[in-house]
Amino acid sequence: MPKVIVLNGPNLNLLGQREPATYGLATLADVEALCRTACERLGVELECHQSNHEGVLIDALHAAGRGVKTGEVIGVVFNAGAYTHTSVALHDAIKGAEVPLVEVHISNVHAREPFRHHSYLSPAAMGIVVGFGVDGYALAIEGLVRKCRARA
Ligand code: DQA
Repeated sequence: MPKVIVLNGPNLNLLGQREPATYGLATLADVEALCRTACERLGVELECHQSNHEGVLIDALHAAGRGVKTGEVIGVVFNAGAYTHTSVALHDAIKGAEVPLVEVHISNVHAREPFRHHSYLSPAAMGIVVGFGVDGYALAIEGLVRKCRARA
C-alpha cells in the first residue's frame, strides 16, 4: 500500500503544552493518531517523523522524493514550524526532490505577526491548509491523496 509521510518540524514535539491558546491541547501523539485514522479511511499507509533540525527535515524530503519515484510514497504533509518563514533550503529540497507536498499550519499564520505571513514553502507546495487546528493534518492528507489519485 502506498504511503503518506507526515513531517513535523521544530517545536511541534511540544504540542499540547506549547502555547495552548494558539495550538490547542492535542499532543503530537494525538496528531499522529488522527493522521492514522485519516489514512486508514483513505486506504493508504502512514509514516510520521518530527525533527527540530533543518538538515534532518531536508534528508526526510529527499527520502520521500525517492519513495515517490519508486511508487512507495504518495507525498508529504509538512508542518515546517518556524522554518516555513526562514528556510530557502527547505524550499529547494521540496523542488529538488520533486515531492508532492501539502503545507500545513495549525494556526492561521496570516492572522498573526507579520513575520509569519511569508512562507518559503508555499511556492513549492501542491496546496496549503492553514488555521484549522490539528484537523488541518487530516484535511491535508485527504487533499494530497485525492489530488495525486486524480493525476494517476
Ligand atoms: C506553525 C506556525 C509557525 O509560524 C510557527 O513557527 C510554528 C507552528 C503552525 O502550525 O501554526 O511552529 O507552523
